Amino acid sequence: MPTVVFRKDGQTYRDEVKASTNLVVRAGIKQFPFPHLRYECGMGKCAHCACRVLAGQEHLPPPNWKEKKQLGERLDAGYRLVCQLWIEHDIELEQGDDLTPGR
Ligand code: FES
Repeated sequence: MPTVVFRKDGQTYRDEVKASTNLVVRAGIKQFPFPHLRYECGMGKCAHCACRVLAGQEHLPPPNWKEKKQLGERLDAGYRLVCQLWIEHDIELEQGDDLTPGR
């Protein structure tokens, strides 16, 4: 089972998830990384769920068109839209406030 390490606001949260897990779907049913993961649309349209991948990027598929549209050059800095990812391998993510729309 993949281990997910989720960092936010100086805290580190860690749990195992089933393969092919979508973290936004899990948060939606109040499982880890709930309540810490920020998200909104779940459909790649808002970028609220954007996280920087600190480890495990090599196991992820290439960004889809929604991620390219929402994140642009931030993809090069390691950001992904978590709602567009189905976790198959260990991954470490960090979510800051820097991509919150309107800030
Ligand atoms: S939750 Fe809106 S883009 Fe991921």
